[in-house]
Amino acid sequence: MTAEELRHLYFDFFIGKDHTLIQGASLIPSEDSTILYTPAGMQPLVPYLLGEKHPAGKKLVNVQKCIRTGDIELVGDSSHLTFFEMLGNWSLGDYFKRESITWSFEFLTSGKWLGFRPQQLHVTVFGGDDQVPPDEEAAALWEEVGISRDRIYFLGRDDNWWGPTGNTGPCGPDTEMFIDTGKPSCTPACRPGCGCGKYFEIWNDVFMEYRRTADGRYVPLEQKNVDTGMGVARTVAMMNDRSTIYDIPQFQPLFGFLKKLSGLGPAPDGQALRSMRIISDHVRTATHILGDDQGIPPSNLDRGYVLRRLIRLAVRHGRKLGIDEPFTHRLAELVIDVESPVHEELARNRRFILDELSMEESRFEKTLQSGLREFEKLLPNLMKNPAKTIPGRIAFRLYDTYGFPVEFTAELASEHGMTVDMEGYGKSFDRHRELSRQGGEQKFKGGLADNSEMVTMLHTATHLLHQALREILGDRVEQKGSNITEKRLRFDFSHPEKMTDEEIVLVEKRVNEVIEADLPVECAETSLENALEEGAIGLFRNKYGDKVKTYRIGDFSIEICGGPHVTRTGELGRFRIVKEMSSSRGVRRIRAVLE
Ligand code: SER
Repeated sequence: MTAEELRHLYFDFFIGKDHTLIQGASLIPSEDSTILYTPAGMQPLVPYLLGEKHPAGKKLVNVQKCIRTGDIELVGDSSHLTFFEMLGNWSLGDYFKRESITWSFEFLTSGKWLGFRPQQLHVTVFGGDDQVPPDEEAAALWEEVGISRDRIYFLGRDDNWWGPTGNTGPCGPDTEMFIDTGKPSCTPACRPGCGCGKYFEIWNDVFMEYRRTADGRYVPLEQKNVDTGMGVARTVAMMNDRSTIYDIPQFQPLFGFLKKLSGLGPAPDGQALRSMRIISDHVRTATHILGDDQGIPPSNLDRGYVLRRLIRLAVRHGRKLGIDEPFTHRLAELVIDVESPVHEELARNRRFILDELSMEESRFEKTLQSGLREFEKLLPNLMKNPAKTIPGRIAFRLYDTYGFPVEFTAELASEHGMTVDMEGYGKSFDRHRELSRQGGEQKFKGGLADNSEMVTMLHTATHLLHQALREILGDRVEQKGSNITEKRLRFDFSHPEKMTDEEIVLVEKRVNEVIEADLPVECAETSLENALEEGAIGLFRNKYGDKVKTYRIGDFSIEICGGPHVTRTGELGRFRIVKEMSSSRGVRRIRAVLE
């Protein structure tokens, strides 16, 4: 079975149960600055889980591209990837546990669909705690469809609860489905959720019946939802009787290429195999980030930094395999070839993907060379150390400032009869990681959907800016990205050159005129065709289904957008452009505030 075949079966099954197929969203959340990359299918649908009406109805089915880097250290084992696709069926206040569990069982076990043997199937349900009772209802439903009690496990909140990454938002107990791979148990206590690989999780049905409040309480949601997520690569692996996700057809060309380029034989050892997996995963993720229609280049900040790290880690593992020439762009070509039939955006953005990878690889090369020069400068002093060890903090500085990996330092050290104090290095590293974790957590604090008033106002201001730019600079201006915090908006758009001071003043003036005119902001629901006919602008490639929402601001602008917005432009105050700069080739970036 291929990923594409699985996708079709899943869609057919749920369309047969009256679901409407909608498009997945971009990997890069546009109006939610607290999330770096879309981590789950739920994230782009949060407004609808909280009660907003979805244009495509109450029963939806989709496939969502996701990125999770939280478990990046585990990549290379049998089941973890940083980029993956999740199939999902959604009930927005329609069906609940009964249908969800019955359909999951039918899809997994019926010979017409996936045809797993029911005996292979083990499930976990929420075991309850002092705030929410155990999910006896889910367990009883599993028993009813034919899973015996000894294959139903009650686990805690860590395993069987799904909710926002931050603190507030829709959440609820879930039930996870595992395939028993037939491997022996690692210990008598081995059960689903154990990391040994005997039980392979492939699907998760979340019963979103609560909302977590800022003070940590769980309030029942008026609208009860179902959010399910089936891992595409994991399920394909199980369907093909493979014990790892890397054994699925789409990875094979990547491994073939890496084996050839590195001169590895047909059966590489464990270390080399792990490096090949890491390279394939990371380059694939980088390709999807760059290839998203909202794609961003590598940088030293937030999203761009995650991307940079993925590319550089891949290059380092390439070195370990003995690959000394630039290769990530060549590997990306294979990813594009294999995946663009489903992800057309990869083909559309092919040039950008390949150019950015080549440039990043050569920047990394330069970084390594300056690290090398720095090492040589330090060498005479280091050699005087009678213990012939390089202190951990120096190895860490080489890594932190020059991006010089510690194993490279260790290699150079050994050429001069020295070693690196790895324990000291580890300590410096942990200290640093702790600090950056703290920073990272702050970033997620806002939860999934932060619709505070200022964000809403800046969102409307973004529409005004977009249209004003088109008036002043011409209709070729197109939105390339948008990011809003409570303090400012950031807007990326296509334009070949730096804006002049005069153009900036004109745009600012135009936006303020429209604010002063106090125009009404009106929302409407219509078909995509209709919206385009009315002259709506905006990013619609990733919009769901055929129906779209438009926001019309007087007769000044009309844009396809999910909202929310203010009701009149007069609420916005004064608009000021703080900065105009380059974002990437052919793309300019504006930061602006409302005062
Ligand atoms: N949100 C759940 C998950 O990511 C199900 O889609 O596993």
